[in-house]
Amino acid sequence: MKKFSAGLQELGILENDKIRVTRYSEFLLLYLENIDFKNEKICDFGCGTGVLGIYADKRGAKQVTGLDIDPAAIELSKENIILNNCSNFETHLIQTADLDQKYDLILSNPASLPTPKSEGKEFFSGGIYGIDMIEDLFDFCQTDLEQGGQIFFLQTSLSSVNKAANYAHEKGFSYKIIGVFQTEIRDHYHEFWHRVEKNRSTGDAHFVEIKGVYSEIVYLVEAKHLSQ
Ligand SMILES: C[S@@+](CC[C@H](N)C(=O)[O-])C[C@H]1O[C@@H](n2cnc3c(N)ncnc32)[C@H](O)[C@@H]1O
Repeated sequence: MKKFSAGLQELGILENDKIRVTRYSEFLLLYLENIDFKNEKICDFGCGTGVLGIYADKRGAKQVTGLDIDPAAIELSKENIILNNCSNFETHLIQTADLDQKYDLILSNPASLPTPKSEGKEFFSGGIYGIDMIEDLFDFCQTDLEQGGQIFFLQTSLSSVNKAANYAHEKGFSYKIIGVFQTEIRDHYHEFWHRVEKNRSTGDAHFVEIKGVYSEIVYLVEAKHLSQ
């Protein structure tokens, strides 16, 4: 179990080999300290372990719904909900979820590494430009975000920020970067580094290199209906 503090909240989250709490999630939680969750209806889109929804529940959200395409994530998040005594948080497989309401706030740490999607890689793979799940997020928000609602999500600079921002605009949403952090690139990224280099040549990926050490930039994005 991973134990850590997110602001004043102490969280204990069960992980497994595939589904973890990442550096990205911890960065998003840091920012979310400034958000008032009281009486809000929240969606944790791509809930994984359920860490974001658990945090929102503990901070007083009225109702939290977690969605994921991976049955293993739903199973694990349910265990974490019990472990953390959450009373207002439920998770569902997105393929079969029966949703009949809109959310005030949609949170997501999407799978956004630029590698083709395949079974077993749901946790991190975002398709060749890294934006497939971000597109799914905006499609979902078109029908499920309240007018006046907000979306907070993360996007790595190894995925196409321009393509994601333009997709958001096409679907009727703003795209505003409101936070950044820089983090060293891990060894397993070598698997798809050729794709990063290729995307970089067209402006669809970027990274920082300091004396042979590579870092990605992770952006925190706020989006709203353009009509707001
Ligand atoms: C990087 S993990 C983030 C997990 C968790 N929210 C966190 O912050 O630790 C991305 C999650 O999104 C799920 N996912 C991938 N594609 C998805 C899609 N199209 N719709 C919903 N969930 C998806 C994955 O199964 C995975 O659990």
